[in-house]
Amino acid sequence: MKVLALNGSPRKRVSATFRILEALLAGMEDAGADTRLVHLAALDLRPCVGCYTCWVATPGACIHRDRDGMAGIMDDWRAADVVVFGTPLYHFSMTGLMKTFLDRLLPESEPWLVPDPRAPAQTTHPRRHDGPARAMLVSPCGFPDTDQFAPMVHTFRYIAERHHWTWMGELLRPGAEPLSRTALAPLFAPYLADVRRAGAALVREGRLPDALAEALGRDLFPGGRIAFYQQANRFWTELMARHGRPAGATPTALAEEDLDPADAGLSCRTLVAGMTTTFASAAAGDLDARIEFRIGGAEPGTYHLAVENGTCRFEEGPASTPTLTIEAESEVWTAIATGRRDGRRALEEGAYRARGDIGLLVRMNELFGSARP
Ligand SMILES: Cc1cc2nc3c(=O)[nH]c(=O)nc-3n(C[C@H](O)[C@H](O)[C@H](O)COP(=O)(O)O)c2cc1C
Repeated sequence: MKVLALNGSPRKRVSATFRILEALLAGMEDAGADTRLVHLAALDLRPCVGCYTCWVATPGACIHRDRDGMAGIMDDWRAADVVVFGTPLYHFSMTGLMKTFLDRLLPESEPWLVPDPRAPAQTTHPRRHDGPARAMLVSPCGFPDTDQFAPMVHTFRYIAERHHWTWMGELLRPGAEPLSRTALAPLFAPYLADVRRAGAALVREGRLPDALAEALGRDLFPGGRIAFYQQANRFWTELMARHGRPAGATPTALAEEDLDPADAGLSCRTLVAGMTTTFASAAAGDLDARIEFRIGGAEPGTYHLAVENGTCRFEEGPASTPTLTIEAESEVWTAIATGRRDGRRALEEGAYRARGDIGLLVRMNELFGSARP
């Protein structure tokens, strides 16, 4: 099975769309598929100008054909059994890049208006070439709300129906902005492992098993919307500060190093605050605990996570009655939180210290996904 995945995010590899596509394609390859991923932004696509030259003067060939990368992927498009449309949600719809790609498919059709042979009540254009037989959608978005995907899902399903592509479904991920950040990627490791399993299942079974579909739709931020806002706003404030902007000033464009903060470095404080977004309330049950962080090194600070009633809050300052206290240099905890250092081994090596309920430290993996010591 040949799979063509199109990444419609302008951020190319530093994008949430890419991270999901990458995991999905890995799973598809596990099941024997032959996959190719194309970053549409790398094709320098020019928009269709509606001249119909591709229908009239040079049938099947666009005026832009020697000026951008569209022609270079058309063999893969025609040969694909499955196309995966990957696009972040932009203004409740697909990105301009993805729309430009779809518009540029015009030369694949002939000008004639005919009844669709497979749905005679509908009008169509005869196709010059076969396209993919099946299609699906992968889309992340910034807000934590799932309902805003509805207009775009409707659009893609309708396009698929009109092209007679069998629709394989959607992988939608709200609140996905942290997923584009390399340093935060480990927080999403369990989700991406499920995406990979989904890729394999889609190739083997042609559809997602219900249990997996349910797992993929799960809320990755069970701390709730307000905790998510707090975390997101803290993140933007921090980025603005790095640009020398006081909070509330007009944000500047993101620099490349901001888009890949493995080097630029999210602060240890933000990474700890980020644990509220991966908190697993079901695993916590009725746990009532204060996990205090006494951080030294380059980014000193004291703050804590308050776990109660199935929620987890980030609080500045020491906890009045800490259940567990972690004392670490910021460099050490950042390396652990971003998956670059093994937490258990670091403890055994004396790289950081833990006081209080060490059993809670052992449970951190279960409580916070892979944001663990
Ligand atoms: C121009 C623009 C429009 C956006 N519109 C929406 C939107 O309507 N709803 C939303 O939740 N997020 C919106 N976002 C946020 C992106 O969907 C979000 O940052 C996403 O994770 C980016 O994915 P990427 O890293 O794959 O590019 C928008 C972002 C941009 C730059």
